Amino acid sequence: MAEDLKILHTTDKAAQYQSLQPQIEALITGEPDLTANLANMAAALKEQFKWFWVGFYLVKGNELVLGPFQGPVACTRIGLGRGVCGSAWQQQKTLIVPDVEAFPGHIACSSLSRSEIVVPLFKDGVVCGVLDVDSEELDQFDEIDAQYLEELVKLIQF
Ligand code: SME
Repeated sequence: MAEDLKILHTTDKAAQYQSLQPQIEALITGEPDLTANLANMAAALKEQFKWFWVGFYLVKGNELVLGPFQGPVACTRIGLGRGVCGSAWQQQKTLIVPDVEAFPGHIACSSLSRSEIVVPLFKDGVVCGVLDVDSEELDQFDEIDAQYLEELVKLIQF
């Protein structure tokens, strides 16, 4: 496909995901390179939703290590059970944080981040990374985001 994204201008979040999903699929289908696919998925999500930060952390040994992302510079390494990312890894499930200041142990890579969602990526039933999305506004993520982002990350083959 052409390397330009069709952006849907609407406040309907599900419609935005539905517009984005086939485009991301087209971008990464047939491309075996993990870094390229993570990078394009992060870029596509950032372009459609204009979130503050969108990116991946990948499990390397006993830590999550920063992977492809869009947004300001971020913490490089996160331990198991640390912050929202390390907690989603440990609990092996999506975590939605409406107010990061109310999340015990939240890692503030930027003081501008106010709410967050972290979605684990699985390979053979084992967490091998997480997708982390941050917003500058409170309470920006819900079950709609969880549902669509969980579907999107399944497109990534490790
Ligand atoms: N806030 C995350 C750290 C990663 S940055 O937001 C990019 C956390 O608590 O795990």
